[in-house]
Amino acid sequence: MSEPILSIRGLTKTYKGGIRALDKVDLDIRAGEIFALLGPNGAGKTTLIGAVCGLVRPTGGTMTAFGHDLARDWRAARARIGLVPQELATDMFETVWRAVTYSQGLFGKPYDAARLEEILKSLSLWDKKDAQIRALSGGMKRRVLIAKALAHDPELLFLDEPTAGVDVELRKGMWQQIAALKERGVTIILTTHYIEEAEEMADRVGIIRSGRILMVDEKHAMMERLGTTEAVIDLAAPLAALPPDIAAFPVELGEGGRRLIYRGGSAGEGGGRAEVAQLTQALTRAGIAYTTLDIHDSSLEDIFVGLLGEGEPA
Ligand SMILES: Nc1ncnc2c1ncn2[C@@H]1O[C@H](COP(=O)(O)OP(=O)(O)O)[C@@H](O)[C@H]1O
Ligand SMILES: [Mg+2]
Repeated sequence: MSEPILSIRGLTKTYKGGIRALDKVDLDIRAGEIFALLGPNGAGKTTLIGAVCGLVRPTGGTMTAFGHDLARDWRAARARIGLVPQELATDMFETVWRAVTYSQGLFGKPYDAARLEEILKSLSLWDKKDAQIRALSGGMKRRVLIAKALAHDPELLFLDEPTAGVDVELRKGMWQQIAALKERGVTIILTTHYIEEAEEMADRVGIIRSGRILMVDEKHAMMERLGTTEAVIDLAAPLAALPPDIAAFPVELGEGGRRLIYRGGSAGEGGGRAEVAQLTQALTRAGIAYTTLDIHDSSLEDIFVGLLGEGEPA
């Protein structure tokens, strides 16, 4: 594997007043991936982004981006990083064009009107270029923030809750924009508290809670490793006990012997579903009839809720 483009070690942030927003975070980001940092409100996502982008002063730890130590050589790295902030904090009286022009020059990039035109067109903002930002809809304002972040052609782009408060239709549009950026080779780190967003967009997912990264993995591997399959089989007649052939499966009887519940395997290829198929064959061989079979693979959501449900870390 190639060198990570961003490498974080032992990153800690304690705010004044004692809130520990980040607690010894280690994280490596690979070139070209979409990484979703998934966690509930207050988990430390915005703080982590702020630390990398120079908005939050870390209490401890080291960060390296594009081979530059961020503590010593911040500007060189920052020039290659774009940030779409969570809050719509930008000068509302500025026009779209002036806002993106300013952002383009912020890290030493020469003025390039053609490039700005291209960016605004790609975000369907070209016909709004002379409008004041305050006159735009919420969805357009967010796209202006993206245009500003892209104006200096970053190789690594942070999107902090890109679809928070955005309705479902616009959310899908945003996902397409993000996917298009990845196609162009931009590495993307997005934060979200929407599981669906991580499931839809990410190559890898990091789950964060109370300033700690609980788990980082390929999305599919995470779902395969932690996922389960559950099957609920309603029997035609109640069973007093399970025959040994059936009891060999990870099943239990419920509803006074009228229901067989299977829990096992993984949600991965074959996995639990293949075993449920074997179970139904075993039922047929044993002469046990059933009326309905309901099968369900756990999702990233189940995994996430399960992890967060394990109580506060010590
Ligand atoms: N400027 C600040 N001063 C004090 N505490 C803060 C500040 N910013 C964030 N926090 C606290 O740090 C924790 C993490 O916040 P944040 O990074 O915004 O989480 P997230 O983005 O995951 O919702 C929260 O408990 C929050 O209240
Ligand atoms: Mg946040």
